[in-house]
Amino acid sequence: MVRLFLTLSPAIFRLNISPRISILATSPSLRLQKHQKHRLITKTHTFSPIAPSSSIKFHSTRFHSTGTRVYSLPKSENSKFDDNLVVLGIETSCDDTAAAVVRGNGEILSQVISSQAELLAQYGGVAPKQAEEAHSRVIDKVVQDALDSANLTEKDLSAVAVTIGPGLSLCLRVGVQKARRVAGSFNLPLVGVHHMEAHALVARLVERELSFPFMALLISGGHNLLVLAHELGHYTQLGTTIDDAIGEAYDKTAKWLGLDLRRSGGPAVEELALEGDAKSVKFNVPMKHHKDCNFSYAGLKTQVRLAIEAKEIDAKCPVSSATNEDRRNRADIAASFQRVAVLHLEEKCERAIDWALKLEPSIKHMVVSGGVASNQHVRFRLNSIVENKNLKLVCPPPSLCTDNGVMVAWTGLEHFRVGRFDPPPPASEPDDFVYDLRPRWPLGEEYAEGRSDARSLRTARIHPSLTSIIRADSLQQQTQT
Ligand code: KG4
Ligand code: ZN
Repeated sequence: MVRLFLTLSPAIFRLNISPRISILATSPSLRLQKHQKHRLITKTHTFSPIAPSSSIKFHSTRFHSTGTRVYSLPKSENSKFDDNLVVLGIETSCDDTAAAVVRGNGEILSQVISSQAELLAQYGGVAPKQAEEAHSRVIDKVVQDALDSANLTEKDLSAVAVTIGPGLSLCLRVGVQKARRVAGSFNLPLVGVHHMEAHALVARLVERELSFPFMALLISGGHNLLVLAHELGHYTQLGTTIDDAIGEAYDKTAKWLGLDLRRSGGPAVEELALEGDAKSVKFNVPMKHHKDCNFSYAGLKTQVRLAIEAKEIDAKCPVSSATNEDRRNRADIAASFQRVAVLHLEEKCERAIDWALKLEPSIKHMVVSGGVASNQHVRFRLNSIVENKNLKLVCPPPSLCTDNGVMVAWTGLEHFRVGRFDPPPPASEPDDFVYDLRPRWPLGEEYAEGRSDARSLRTARIHPSLTSIIRADSLQQQTQT
């Protein structure tokens, strides 16, 4: 399936947000992608003496079979504009509605997040329809607050960046629609952002020394990725999960232990684990005998559930009301789970670093990002692994590890600078406009020598990877010049 899409990728060359309908017109076999509507808004910033977006001349560099133009900034002017670029980033891929305004020099002008913690607690996880409604209720206010706190209006922006995948399509749609509206109304270019690339690249905003190539472990509620970042938009996937991600395992453990889910499961397990004995419950480290860099957390989840049943822990009784013994049992399970869950990360990271150094010997850094990277035990343990390999660990602060608008704005800036963006959409688009959303969108191609027999079966409805799209686009450019 992936191979089929790769051959089609020249028809969908763009990283950015094109009308889905035009993709369907040229690539009927992409019908597995969902039809959705979207619009985007972007702006130019008032701070800049020279570069409000309305003054930038967008050079149309090429036309594609979709009939869509791709524009790029005149290369010689890129550096001049750098510090003066201001990008609004919008993120709605899962359960947080987030927006931020970031300047080209990395200055965070504002950051706003509306979390759906109450819904999470109520449904015991993310319910897509309810999450979509919650995003729709707050998106206008979140974006407005981000602009207000930055003391800017849309007219001050250079571009709008928005997450287009991977994630829940119902939720992605809300952010993309908002972004297109802003961009259309204020004649701003748009950048469609890969959520996992954004988790990785925000580390470059935090750590200025961090240059390509580098390694990244991206750990969140839905993803467990080990990637080698060769350059912007070019990634090799060294490992992924064959079933659940570590964040999902934290969330279920929290739910079954009767923890308060209002801050999401991970922080609740981390806190309770501090009271427990991490060696008291014997859980097996997953995939010990697989000499690859893939992950599996489904089996560990089952081990945890069985341990909870064996101790007759009642999830309906909140931990705050548990007896001392019951609380200690829960804390022991939390601590033992966390120890083994992180040991699994450690083992795979060690191997992945060895592989990566063979491919790119100049690597100096390992980024650990995504919601689970806010965990102190994760940071501490991975730091030793990374230092033993003579690399430096780069972990964004917790507020930039969990989903946020800054990472989207920053990734938008990185691509915008090199000319990867869509021109402003029309000021008004029909209600049945079809959006380019990419709910299942790999970041890079799989490292061939790292393939194992334990493979994900979830290959249906997958979009060509970000890396393959960008490569196909570059090849097309080369043949045109
Ligand atoms: O990156 P993120 O905010 O959203 C997704 O893209 O999924 O990650 C959310 C995940 C959730 O599973 C949450 O429980 C987990 O990150 N998480 C943590 C911690 N903070 C958030 N897991 C362990 N320890 C934490 N302190
Ligand atoms: Zn995330």
